[in-house]
Amino acid sequence: MCGIVGAAAQRDIVPILIEGLRRLEYRGYDSCGVAVLADGEPRRARSVARVADLDVQVRKAHLDGVTGIAHTRWATHGAPVTHNAHPIFSRGTVALVHNGIIENFVSLRDTLRGKGYEFVTQTDTEVITHLIHSVYQGDLFAAVRKAVQQLHGAYAIAVMHKDQPHTVVGARRGSPLVVGLGKGENFLASDTLALANSTDRFIFLEDGDVCELTLERVRIADRDGHDAGREVRTVAACGCAVELGPYRHFMQKEIFEQPCAIRDTIAKAGSLDSPLFDKVAGKVFSKIDSVLILACGTSYYSGLTAKYWFESIAKIPTQVEVASEYRYRDSVPNPRSLVVVISQSGETADTLAALEHAQSLGHKHTLAICNVAASAIVRLTKLAFLTEAGREIGVASTKAFTTQLVALFLLAATLGKLRGYVDSTLEATYIRQLQDLPAALSAVLALEPQIIAWAGEFARKENVLFLGRGLHYPIALEGALKLKEISYIHAEAYPAGELKHGPLALVTGAMPVVTVAPNDRLIEKLKSNMQEVRARGGELYVFADADTRIVNDEGLHVIRMPENYGLLSPILHVVPLQLLAYHTACVRGTDVDKPRNLAKSVTVE
Ligand code: AGP
Repeated sequence: MCGIVGAAAQRDIVPILIEGLRRLEYRGYDSCGVAVLADGEPRRARSVARVADLDVQVRKAHLDGVTGIAHTRWATHGAPVTHNAHPIFSRGTVALVHNGIIENFVSLRDTLRGKGYEFVTQTDTEVITHLIHSVYQGDLFAAVRKAVQQLHGAYAIAVMHKDQPHTVVGARRGSPLVVGLGKGENFLASDTLALANSTDRFIFLEDGDVCELTLERVRIADRDGHDAGREVRTVAACGCAVELGPYRHFMQKEIFEQPCAIRDTIAKAGSLDSPLFDKVAGKVFSKIDSVLILACGTSYYSGLTAKYWFESIAKIPTQVEVASEYRYRDSVPNPRSLVVVISQSGETADTLAALEHAQSLGHKHTLAICNVAASAIVRLTKLAFLTEAGREIGVASTKAFTTQLVALFLLAATLGKLRGYVDSTLEATYIRQLQDLPAALSAVLALEPQIIAWAGEFARKENVLFLGRGLHYPIALEGALKLKEISYIHAEAYPAGELKHGPLALVTGAMPVVTVAPNDRLIEKLKSNMQEVRARGGELYVFADADTRIVNDEGLHVIRMPENYGLLSPILHVVPLQLLAYHTACVRGTDVDKPRNLAKSVTVE
């Protein structure tokens, strides 16, 4: 979703801003732009193509300057056309970039129109720009502080004023913004990755903060206007993560990184003990009697899978909620619940808001499972488990999902041990199975050529049904989500037992039915469901464990997985579904890493 970069320096900052935008491309965007203060005036270039095109434009226009702001826009208000792209100007004086949504923009726009401001975009952002212009009295920092008090909704902004040539002012509420500290230069960005080539020292702004960057100084005021002494953190550069290497897309690279990501994630788990989740986790775990999981998208599906583990391994009642629903519905809080928020980015607006909502209802026991250490979600929870997936660039989440599953399995087994359901023999078995997972995953990845052969068929279809049962129903959901988000093929997932209650009406030879078929206690039931499909002329594409004895037949295409992997089987079974989606999208020629309309980090509601 929208990305922001800003800089005040003594050298030409345009290359830094463009490089920062390149590093933010993974978040998803549909237009981009950059503005600098040059010869006392703001000048800008904007593009509805890629950052590479913007780079060509700024070179042609010889756009350079020592103070600047830049933006990748993911349209919310107003189409992705050049005149809506940021930076947005007010009367050739104020330049501003924004990530978020201003909910009261209509009333603010009417008031500003009454004061003579002319609106030339359809964005909600333009009201912020004019508002700052309208209250400016020679001090941009003061003007921004005054203006943001009138905003309802979420924002991260970076602003410049032509009369303050070495100053960039930033502010955030709800959307992320970090300050990067340099020597004689300072930066702003949506995340640390954007500035990985410029600094490793960061301040994470908190909700309500307004900051002012000049060459030598950074000053921050909190929501009450007091000087905020925010901690400076060192975040190691991870520039290598943006290299594609021998792979065609980041998604493919990330699928193949899963054995390594899982090995790194379990490295700290020599035994199943609460310090894995923080040194005070033992105290917290001893007080809980249930689990409430909050997440969105793929992270929600890892939560759904975990519910099976929590209830079967730890015998602890578990509820899983879509964060965007939970935050607005009336619920009955149980203060003895462990609230587990799952997020790859740690910045997803709905998940953050759901966490804050849970806290406002009195939930004190909170745990984040997250892939980004310095993220808002990790900062807000009491306990945290960091997955070691490394930077995930592809919008379609893959290695983040499987590492979340590993983290959740560790949590279920740890709670099971604390509650007396996992003895030392079982603990040793779980640990051995986790340690063997990377090798088992490599064996599944070796199925890629067979999956490529299926992808040609799938690429010609417009609808696909996914079936799974029990622990593998969420895996079917995840397979359908992967296929729809990158190949744009309509896909739905059902628990196979539900087929006869409706979706069977859709089954014809034209709609492939992908079936996740582990050799678990539901396999015979699943085989009956498969018969229901075959009897209606449906074409089944089955990922079957080697020991299921499901073999190729008319209307029945089988890829043989390794032998059943017990409770950890979902982690293996999701991988061929990721590969199927990936190769189907490649055949259809979609933009796999940046699918249309989607963003990596969903920082608005
Ligand atoms: C996954 O492929 C999706 N792009 C999306 O559903 C994602 O999982 C969701 O937006 C949640 O993101 P998070 O894990 O960063 O919170």
